[in-house]
Amino acid sequence: MEYRWPKTMTGQEPKLLFGGDYNPDQWPEDIWEEDVRLMKKAKVNVVTVAVFAWANLEPEDGVYTFEWLDRVLDKLYEGGIAVDLATATATPPRWLTSAHPEILPRNKQGEVLWPGSRQQWRPTSEVFRRYALRLAEKMAERYKNHPALVSWHVSNELGCHNRFDYSDDAALGFQKWLKKRYGTLEALNDSWNGAFWSQKVTDWSQIIPPRESMCGCNPTTLLDFKRFSSDALLEYYEAEAELLHRITPDVPVTTNLMIIENQTNPVDCFKWGRHLDFVSNDHYYLPDERHLDEMTMSAAITDGVADKNPWFLMENSTSSVNWRPINLRKQPGEIIRDALVHVANGADAVCFFQWRQSRAGAEKFHSSLLPHAGEDSRLFREVCELGNALTALKPVLKSRVEQAKIAMVYDYDSWWSWENGLLTQLFDYRAEFYHWYRAALDAGVAADVVRKEDAWESYETVMFPVTILADAEISEKARHYVEQGGQLIVTYGSGIMDSREHVYLGGYPGAFRELLGVRVEEFVAIDENDKIELDNGWSGQMWADDITGVSEDCEVVSRILPSASDRALRGQAIVTRRSYGKGSAWYIGTKLDRSSAEQLFRERILKTDAVPDGKEAHLLSGEVARGENTPLRIRRVKDGQCFEFIFNRCAEQAVEVPVAGHPLYLLMAEAGEDRVVLEPSGAAVYLCGQ
Ligand code: GAL
Repeated sequence: MEYRWPKTMTGQEPKLLFGGDYNPDQWPEDIWEEDVRLMKKAKVNVVTVAVFAWANLEPEDGVYTFEWLDRVLDKLYEGGIAVDLATATATPPRWLTSAHPEILPRNKQGEVLWPGSRQQWRPTSEVFRRYALRLAEKMAERYKNHPALVSWHVSNELGCHNRFDYSDDAALGFQKWLKKRYGTLEALNDSWNGAFWSQKVTDWSQIIPPRESMCGCNPTTLLDFKRFSSDALLEYYEAEAELLHRITPDVPVTTNLMIIENQTNPVDCFKWGRHLDFVSNDHYYLPDERHLDEMTMSAAITDGVADKNPWFLMENSTSSVNWRPINLRKQPGEIIRDALVHVANGADAVCFFQWRQSRAGAEKFHSSLLPHAGEDSRLFREVCELGNALTALKPVLKSRVEQAKIAMVYDYDSWWSWENGLLTQLFDYRAEFYHWYRAALDAGVAADVVRKEDAWESYETVMFPVTILADAEISEKARHYVEQGGQLIVTYGSGIMDSREHVYLGGYPGAFRELLGVRVEEFVAIDENDKIELDNGWSGQMWADDITGVSEDCEVVSRILPSASDRALRGQAIVTRRSYGKGSAWYIGTKLDRSSAEQLFRERILKTDAVPDGKEAHLLSGEVARGENTPLRIRRVKDGQCFEFIFNRCAEQAVEVPVAGHPLYLLMAEAGEDRVVLEPSGAAVYLCGQ
């Protein structure tokens, strides 16, 4: 799909977009005027309208009441506010689920998931699709020439609640998908190893979704079901997008992905990214010490999904949400600081859920741009300040995030495969990825995030953190990359199986064994309160590889000390580096603890240690800002211009950072001649030469 950004309304200049979900149909009409006045006051310039408005747009089968939406769009247009118009198909109205209960999804136990909240529809239901496409078509026909319309927003967070459906419709869809993937039952049985537990399939109709059964389901079936479920939703998205493209060819189409900290992920965002005219994401901060780092990581993943094209932050929150066990709020300044984190990572639009805080309903205590307290509130004043900040940052528009010194491979297939379990319940794919991403931040580098199938050969260093699945093409690509001079890092739990989850025999990690020059015989789980100490002062946790073979041309960077509780591990190599061709290949056989991982990056891999005297960042106390206090620096570049975004990662102290150029925006920061002092939660944006 060719990249296309929302249109600019006639008579307006392109700007960084700022706004949020706007649900006027949930309010009396006499409040709309006030909404537009306050939007203008906050410099809001785009809103997403009608996400959950199906019941108010089609109150009865085939009866449409668009007049209220006409008035909303006209009012917004008059106020100079653009509209990202939702197709309103996110949640079917009650009349539809009553007339057609066969669109309701079923859970693993075969029970119906009833209406009463939202997204109660089967991604594979033809009936649902017929009704939804009919509404989307009516919307497109009615608003195709409306001057406020700048982009389309298909449905909402597809798969957030209806990711898995175990109904008969899903069974048929799954059978069709498998036929396409495997062609023959032989290939399917081979992939699923049908002989195991006598589960050989002799007719496609025998295949069902992985419903509740006696004990663990076949892991490759589970993995395929996750792939299928992502594709089924994508097919649905494409059906709406195709219709919109046909009726309004010049209006770009998107839907909001969910690249955010969570246990699972509904769709393969890298795959989806290639099908959206522009990528949009929803992100909600973690209310603990991971807040800034996790947000940066999610934003960097989104930038990778967007292939470094500017992307749209469709939702985030001004303060607390209402769905965590404890809903901690943001600290003063963090609305702006967080927006800057997304912009630094490539967002050209910063939007929120939602414009006006609901007065009733499930989300009435979720923060918004305009809180219950109204215009005269700290929160709304900060929102207005954010509007000013984004206006000041206009020059950043359309620049791209500069290529980092290191790319990290993020792999949905591997993530889904890890969910089948291996060795230890302490393992969590996203937490492992975060561990390594943060170690690079601690060493002063914000990594780029790439998918293993894409072109990552232009990076100096490429890391495969816990990438358990790798096909032969990937190992060959890695070999070629190192031969040509690349620096490759492979960690424990990578390259163990192919994409059918078949283990490479002869020693792990089969996909990379020869290139790395190491042979792992077994994996060793390390207990929660235990660790392995290494001979260079580092330590490892959770996982250790039993490395019984190291080729002669490998440098052993660290060995396990005799204190290890697993006796067979004592004295064994655990971190190695092999020179190969013009490059080198590292193997890290354990989860190095945070400071060891930082040292590995700082001293050996990224060499960020070599900072000329006096150029290091210092904390207020005078200490060099290292590790968790290392400031975060990200650059966006365009046409010979460079914008550097700098953030203080230290929660308690100010940090003084050497910097060149002119400040474009300062948040809780003071600019000196060649340095800037940032308070906790402070940030600065500098315009510097490239
Ligand atoms: C998102 C959703 C919004 C709102 C928000 C609350 O998942 O798209 O409609 O519910 O969460 O945080």
